[in-house]
Amino acid sequence: MTKPRLFSGMQPSADSLQIGNYIGALMQWRGMQDDFDAFFTVVDLHAITVPQDPKELREKTRRTAAQYIAAGIEPDKSTLYVQSQVPAHAELAWILSTITGFGEAGRMTQFKDKSQRYGSDQASVGLFTYPVLMAADILLFQAEAVPVGDDQKQHVELTRNLAERFNARFGETFTVPEPVIPRETARIYDLQEPTSKMSKSAESQAGVLYLLDDVNVTAKKIMRAVTDSEGIVRYDRDEKPGVSNLLAIYSALTGSSVAAIEDEYAGRGYGDFKKGLRDVVVAEFEPVRARALELLDDPAELDRVLSANATRAAEAAEHTLTAVYERVGL
Ligand code: ADP
Ligand code: NA
Repeated sequence: MTKPRLFSGMQPSADSLQIGNYIGALMQWRGMQDDFDAFFTVVDLHAITVPQDPKELREKTRRTAAQYIAAGIEPDKSTLYVQSQVPAHAELAWILSTITGFGEAGRMTQFKDKSQRYGSDQASVGLFTYPVLMAADILLFQAEAVPVGDDQKQHVELTRNLAERFNARFGETFTVPEPVIPRETARIYDLQEPTSKMSKSAESQAGVLYLLDDVNVTAKKIMRAVTDSEGIVRYDRDEKPGVSNLLAIYSALTGSSVAAIEDEYAGRGYGDFKKGLRDVVVAEFEPVRARALELLDDPAELDRVLSANATRAAEAAEHTLTAVYERVGL
């Protein structure tokens, strides 16, 4: 029996991924590899929708791929590759852009947020059509499941609409995908600003736990995490965002329920709790970091693996693209 297809990816927008990427994406992906024919992509074409340094981008792309593998994505089981090495992504994006409404694309809230940040002269057309490229990524592989953060839900909805529109106009061609949204506790917030989502491209690194940080840096960031003056380890997102965030990380990495962790630390202070969390995070990150650095020590071998996987992805993609060209009349 053939397994259902799954597509997901991350932008190579930093030297290191952060614990939110690990909990919200990599851990989930790792657990889905047996049940799905999965495609995990480093989406470098998406990364150039905002200004990039070419040399840094290439390095970040390789580093991101190494961290996928180090976190347990197996390139012999799943297809792990770099987006720009498979030209069909850009080719299908062009076709899909011709069936996307200008107003429809204009309703994407992520573009509105980002273009406000960059200003309308800096915000490129590529940033505007980013969701169309994302639709192409997903539809190219006939993916049924698309694990994404809730901020990407609108883009998956657009993808579904484009798939249905194309199928209606040109005949059944695309699988209509479903978003797979991780549960609420999988969302991780900045340790210094626990109401903002933790991000690898945050301006300040003080509240971001990077996978590739030195162990001592990770420990310090956890011990300095913002809490509150109550002194009770208790989950309450509204009143106690800092402590709740630490509980969510603890729970996600250990598999213990939040209630069980609250019990474990009942009558003990935040210092004890933070030390406990520090040990949990360090134990989780240490082997991942070591493996990633080992992979990055042999870039030729890493590039060979990525290139072989890109070939596999290109074959799967070509299947869809050929059908699309033919249906459209190209
Ligand atoms: P970042 O903001 O770190 O650049 P992206 O927006 O590129 O991350 O997201 C890449 C993947 O990591 C997505 O699947 C997203 O849902 C997940 N992710 C990113 N940040 C977090 C977070 N703070 N908590 C949970 N998941 C996250
Ligand atoms: Na980002």
